[in-house]
Amino acid sequence: MFYTTDTNAHGMPHDPFKAIVAPRPIGWIGSRSRAGKDNLAPYSFFNAVSSLPPVVMFSSDTIKDSYTNIEETGVFTASLASLNLAGKMNLTSAPLARGESEFVAAGLTAINGRLVDAPYVGEAYAALECRVTGLMPAPTLEGYTSESRLVFGQVVGIHIREEAIGEDGLLDMTKIRPVGRMGYLDYAECGAPFQMKRPRRD
Ligand SMILES: Cc1cc2nc3c(=O)[nH]c(=O)nc-3n(C[C@H](O)[C@H](O)[C@H](O)COP(=O)(O)O)c2cc1C
Repeated sequence: MFYTTDTNAHGMPHDPFKAIVAPRPIGWIGSRSRAGKDNLAPYSFFNAVSSLPPVVMFSSDTIKDSYTNIEETGVFTASLASLNLAGKMNLTSAPLARGESEFVAAGLTAINGRLVDAPYVGEAYAALECRVTGLMPAPTLEGYTSESRLVFGQVVGIHIREEAIGEDGLLDMTKIRPVGRMGYLDYAECGAPFQMKRPRRD
């Protein structure tokens, strides 16, 4: 089948777009309002978009509390959403009133960043501290007119729990088991990783 997205006439019970771009990493975004109120929410339109320097990006479908806080303060954190925290991660997507802490609602520990004034998830195996490098509406064929907002942040500090590091000194992904978001209500769980050597020219 083929369909165009101007009409979105896919004829399926649910829009398949998010199920096609899957699995997506989940940025568990920690932020703090100018008034000092902590906020936490998962964003699966999230990824690392550069490694030198390390830059991450997430997108908010509309202007939500995370975006508002980050616009006020210029900083945020992104904690790693792992299988053991998946239920709590989901709880933090509840639409609480601005100023109400999802850390408290989900029973998670808010730890303040070392370099940025924003909280991250103390229970997470890893967390990134980020300084905003760009805030913009999503660029679309109509220009910058959509409600969707992109947030770019340069990673300035990284927390890793010692227990997440294996005997070989690498992150133990078998232990961490990051979860990915797919379409509908689906999530992907990472089992044991497999390795492939990159092809060489010769
Ligand atoms: C796994 C998961 C991924 C999500 N990804 C996004 C996303 O990429 N963009 C978005 O706008 N909302 C996303 N949401 C919904 C937000 O988490 C939800 O609207 C939340 O209440 C926003 O919180 P805030 O207003 O505190 O920022 C996601 C929810 C879940 C459970």
